[in-house]
Amino acid sequence: MAPILTFADTVLWNARPRDPHRPLSIDNIHFENTFSGTEDEMNFYKTSAAVELQGIEAIQIIHRYLNLDDPQDRINESGLRNDLARLKAVLEELTELMGSVKEAVDPRVFYWQVRPWFNGSGSGGEQRWVYEGIAESAVVDTSGPSAGQSTIMHAIDAFLGVDHRQLRCPIPSIRKQHGDSAFMDRMRRYMPGSHRDFLDRIDDTPVAIREVATERSGLKEAYSDAMRALKRLRDIHIRVACLYVISMARTHPPDGFQRRETRGLEGARGTGGNHVASLLKAGRDATQRAILE
Ligand code: HEM
Repeated sequence: MAPILTFADTVLWNARPRDPHRPLSIDNIHFENTFSGTEDEMNFYKTSAAVELQGIEAIQIIHRYLNLDDPQDRINESGLRNDLARLKAVLEELTELMGSVKEAVDPRVFYWQVRPWFNGSGSGGEQRWVYEGIAESAVVDTSGPSAGQSTIMHAIDAFLGVDHRQLRCPIPSIRKQHGDSAFMDRMRRYMPGSHRDFLDRIDDTPVAIREVATERSGLKEAYSDAMRALKRLRDIHIRVACLYVISMARTHPPDGFQRRETRGLEGARGTGGNHVASLLKAGRDATQRAILE
């Protein structure tokens, strides 16, 4: 794993059941460590953890698919249709969770008190951190934690066949293309090894569900419905990122806090070091492109 603070550190391995006698759940969770000591930071982690917990059903659906002897066998068609419909419902639940962050996390507290702790280095062009005495210092991954490292989201993308590597279409100006296609690949290097192995397993599926859905009219609609739900999730996520990062980058820091980002709308940088707006739009467009009808 990249030797730096990751999503797994801040969310997955930081989560504990509030009541240790009951299992970990969205209603029974707290986080051992925070940087800022604010409820907002805790609630930010809680939203991400809620997506992970609620997303377990998506993993079960993917798992069922990976274990099919022959996904193209007609006998599996109605089961696959049901699973795609369920996946769509799960994605709608995740979208609702994503939107609910607004009730629990104050954008100003997030931007000025929490987010600076997530700053890493490593996007092209800017000055990078140096690991003294390490020859490969220039290529060591030093981005900060990001929910872009959430295995649930990557698993759903890999399963449905969202291709983040393609350039946007129509191709935006060079300035806006920055970092688009390599971001998701890079984020995988910040995940726990077993999570990466799981994603590799999905990538290596001999017959992807997208291929089956393309050939079967009975599945095409269910597949595209799930993909549309994923697109809506990304639409809401873009709005959240706008509220918490892009708009906040234009505000003045409260007394005692330093400005970290000086760029405008398209230039506001993510903790992964990318141009937030163009990066997120690229992800949304890649999802839109994958819709079959
Ligand atoms: C206040 C809440 C949130 C804010 C402000 C936010 C902001 C951002 C930003 C700025 C990026 C750009 C890349 C980076 O800097 O790391 C990003 C990427 C990403 N975020 Fe979030 N995010 C939030 C919540 C979430 C949640 C709850 C999830 C779900 C687990 C999520 C999933 C992702 C994913 C998968 C990406 C990669 C790009 C994509 O797939 O479209 N985010 N987010």
